[in-house]
Amino acid sequence: MKKLFLCGLAFAAVLLCNCAGEIQNAPQSNENQVVKAIMARRSIRKYKDTPVEHEKLETIAKCGINAPSGMNKQPWEIRVVENQELINQVNDVYKKLNAEAVAKDPSFKNMFRNAPNIICVAGEQNSGLDLGLLGENMMLAAQSLGLGTCCLGGPVHFLTNTEEARFFIEKLGFSEGYSLMYILAVGYPDESPDAKPRDEAKVKFIN
Ligand SMILES: Cc1cc2nc3c(=O)[nH]c(=O)nc-3n(C[C@H](O)[C@H](O)[C@H](O)COP(=O)(O)O)c2cc1C
Repeated sequence: MKKLFLCGLAFAAVLLCNCAGEIQNAPQSNENQVVKAIMARRSIRKYKDTPVEHEKLETIAKCGINAPSGMNKQPWEIRVVENQELINQVNDVYKKLNAEAVAKDPSFKNMFRNAPNIICVAGEQNSGLDLGLLGENMMLAAQSLGLGTCCLGGPVHFLTNTEEARFFIEKLGFSEGYSLMYILAVGYPDESPDAKPRDEAKVKFIN
């Protein structure tokens, strides 16, 4: 009987703690998990070599395509690159053609800000807004899974304008009418940079 009572008491205490947690968390934005993830995200440019687990990449991609898009057109295609050999091959081309820049960077591992995995995002014409929403969803999902990301526009010009890198774009196999717009570097962070400053004056409340 005493045991049963103690069990009941413990159950009630757990329930109370959970409810109290929910009530406490609701109005306080600094305790909210989504807000926390947004505020903690940084562009990461140093990664551990460990590739990201397939399940986590699946979750990130799924969160990406659940972003809103104008008239639900979903004008995107994404390619999650897990093939390390493909990344190494295209990186070899980059290193060959950018030997000087690579030599100057002692932390250089690869052209994708040293990430072990990348997600290549292509879009139809004028799909920039939708693609941005897709990307932020993926970055925040990655953040909440303990991963770091960096949105990369830089490599797009190289990849789409270098004859020797054409094999890479071909391997991604985007549909007709879709162009590579950005690449998301993904991996386990090997640095913890400070937040970049934000201009609070850009926000005005109109009462
Ligand atoms: C469209 C876009 C393109 C970017 N391209 C690059 C890039 O080529 N290389 C890079 O290191 N960072 C790139 N970044 C990351 C930005 O430099 C970074 O988001 C910005 O400095 C703010 O820092 P934070 O992400 O840590 O808050 C890009 C970001 C965006 C949104």
